[in-house]
Amino acid sequence: MNTSELINKTILFVKQQLENAEGGHDWFHIERVYKNALLIAKNENCDRTIVQLGALLHDIADSKFHNGDESIGPKTAREFLTANEVDESVIQHVAKIIENISFKGGNFEKNFHSIELDVVQDADRLDAIGAIGVARAFNYGGFKNRALYNPEIAPILNMSKEEYKKSTAPTINHFYEKLLLLKDKMNTQTGKKIAEERHRFMELFLAQFYAEWEGEK
Ligand code: ADP
Ligand code: NI
Repeated sequence: MNTSELINKTILFVKQQLENAEGGHDWFHIERVYKNALLIAKNENCDRTIVQLGALLHDIADSKFHNGDESIGPKTAREFLTANEVDESVIQHVAKIIENISFKGGNFEKNFHSIELDVVQDADRLDAIGAIGVARAFNYGGFKNRALYNPEIAPILNMSKEEYKKSTAPTINHFYEKLLLLKDKMNTQTGKKIAEERHRFMELFLAQFYAEWEGEK
């Protein structure tokens, strides 16, 4: 099978796997990350096939929906790639990308490094910020039945991740907890540049939000 056949087959597989996925992690999230990844990869000396496979397979099975089992994503990807006779070295690399990409991974030392992981991780982070990031955050908050904002518990910065998860913190807090921090975590030059534009948009959004909240605009 040539590379473009493999990529097309992977797209079909991922679409089918994510048929019933929730809005934040559906096929369209994957498609956006895939496009971001290809854009970033243009300026990096990296293996495009690994970037493509990593982007397409990175959320194939979210541990949140599999009793916290972090191994299910890499395992599902490995089975698919093995069935399609992909080289073991490629499979290994893609599995490592899936294991190391998530934000959860962002909180402890990565135990694997590659330019392909950097590219896919930047692409995934870009989809959490900017206009799409705003939409995804409020979609998630709605799903959890959270308030949009509460001036009385105005952005709490010093909560632990565990405390935050248990709390019913309004969605605006998530910007301070994670979204506004992402631009400084980008790996690649292209990722940084796009992240800065998206960051500015979130700052504008927040300024407008507070002004409207106070009836000032
Ligand atoms: P990932 O799977 O990429 O690690 P998450 O599953 O944590 O990311 O989040 C998926 C989407 O939901 C992201 O856009 C993220 O910003 C958003 N999200 C996650 N946690 C919250 C939260 N507490 N409040 C609002 N949005 C959230
Ligand atoms: Ni993702």
